[in-house]
Amino acid sequence: MSRTAKVNIASVHPPSSGPMDVRDSILDCIGSTPLVALDRFAPPEDGRARVLAKMELMNPYSVKDRPALWMLREAHRRGEIEPGRTTIIEATSGNTGIGLAMVSTILGYDLVLCMSEGMSEERKAILRALGARLELTPAPLHTKGAKARALELLEELPEGYYICQHDNMDNRQAHIDSTAEELWEQTDGGMSALVAGLGTCGTLTGVATALKPRNPDLLIVGVEPAEAPYYRTGEFVQHKIPGVVPGFTPGIYDADLVDRLVDVPAEVAWQSVRDLAHTEGIMAGITSGATAWAARELAGESEMAGGMVVCIVADTGERYLSTKGLW
Ligand SMILES: Cc1ncc(COP(=O)(O)O)c(C=O)c1O
Repeated sequence: MSRTAKVNIASVHPPSSGPMDVRDSILDCIGSTPLVALDRFAPPEDGRARVLAKMELMNPYSVKDRPALWMLREAHRRGEIEPGRTTIIEATSGNTGIGLAMVSTILGYDLVLCMSEGMSEERKAILRALGARLELTPAPLHTKGAKARALELLEELPEGYYICQHDNMDNRQAHIDSTAEELWEQTDGGMSALVAGLGTCGTLTGVATALKPRNPDLLIVGVEPAEAPYYRTGEFVQHKIPGVVPGFTPGIYDADLVDRLVDVPAEVAWQSVRDLAHTEGIMAGITSGATAWAARELAGESEMAGGMVVCIVADTGERYLSTKGLW
């Protein structure tokens, strides 16, 4: 890809905050992420739609910080958990665990995370650094193995509370209350399509639930690995787009909310990650490569002409530095 600069550098300046902009904790830094035009990665020429990145990597950690806050805050509010008494348990492919570790620290909860040993070393190190206890499960069992261990722990720990992000409606609610509202305001209600990876499906179903009734023409597109197109075919194998397609159907998935499923081969997603870095200076994770690629393809379709196609940029590429062959 060529490195053509297409911004007026004289007009670029960082946004300023108001006086005394002091946040009470890191939790007040979750959300309000910008939309960034990917005009160099996907030039909006010849009537093509503009591709916009929802920069969830600019949360403290990732797209999963919002659900982590909602799931713990709402359980706390309902009196189901109590700091000093409850141990929080979760099965995670990494980013939810990182979000939960951040929120648990601030709210004062002990946290045990069950995760496939196949997840990246960065994720394990970050989780340990944030004070979570890690229970690693065999890689071939993928997220299913992590879930099974979480259920065992729930039996073993008398005051355990299983977050169960795949079935937890507060996961979806986080995106209804925050991500969807931000996208509506940021595009002035004019978003033509949303492209998101299907992990727990909280992001996609949350945004669709909130915005479809307001704009029935909004196209909701779910992305999954071509090697494991589980939502389309029920087929699952180990794949190389970590964070999406856990190998079972999450309770919060709702097929009626998805207009289109796009299969992205892992090699295409990986190349797209490199292209995003080289053209936009955005070093993102692998699911972001997949969503950005699918958004660019979609932007060329005639129904999208002149519109805005939003892709979720879920986490930072720094979380995948040890992934062999990616960078
Ligand atoms: C990097 C990454 N991308 C996408 C997703 C999918 O998001 P959701 O769980 O809202 O479907 C996840 C979920 O963990 C993730 O970690």
